[in-house]
Amino acid sequence: MKSIKSLAFGMIAIASFTYACGGGGSSSSTSETTSTTSSPAPAATQSLEDKYKDDPVFVAGSAKAKEAGCTACHMVERKIVGPSYADVAEKYENTAENVELLTSRVIKGNVGVWGEVPMPAHPHLDNDDVEAVVKYVLLLKK
Ligand code: HEC
Repeated sequence: MKSIKSLAFGMIAIASFTYACGGGGSSSSTSETTSTTSSPAPAATQSLEDKYKDDPVFVAGSAKAKEAGCTACHMVERKIVGPSYADVAEKYENTAENVELLTSRVIKGNVGVWGEVPMPAHPHLDNDDVEAVVKYVLLLKK
């Protein structure tokens, strides 16, 4: 009697487990397959790099950012050591004053705007080169 009971319990458990799994899996996969039509929505999934890749400000600035080593701490859409360029672009309007302000902060170093991690000074960099990177950063609006 005891063994029959536990066998029955086991079968119910297996049955309900299979049901839960099969039910969840099949419903989500059908909704995916039915919405497969020819045109995807590029606006929602396009990366900022794709969006601006043909802009001369982007081309010049992204090359300079690599040369100057900014990419060690900054990525376009993800925060690493420093804020993402997209976050910086969202915070500051793309004006001549902000380009000047941010260029001098990069050259002199700065801390406290985005957190407690400081950006080291870059006194060896050419002002025009940093400005080219900053213009590229501020271009990267979503
Ligand atoms: C060693 C890491 C590191 C490097 C290299 C670095 N940054 Fe930063 N950057 C940071 C950090 C950290 C912050 C946030 C500083 C703060 O909170 O004030 C920052 C902030 C910034 C900001 C926003 C400043 C503000 O006041 O809002 C800009 C623009 C920027 N960096 C551009 C650059 C450029 C251009 C370069 C390359 C010349 C560069 N960074 C190199 C770490 C770095």
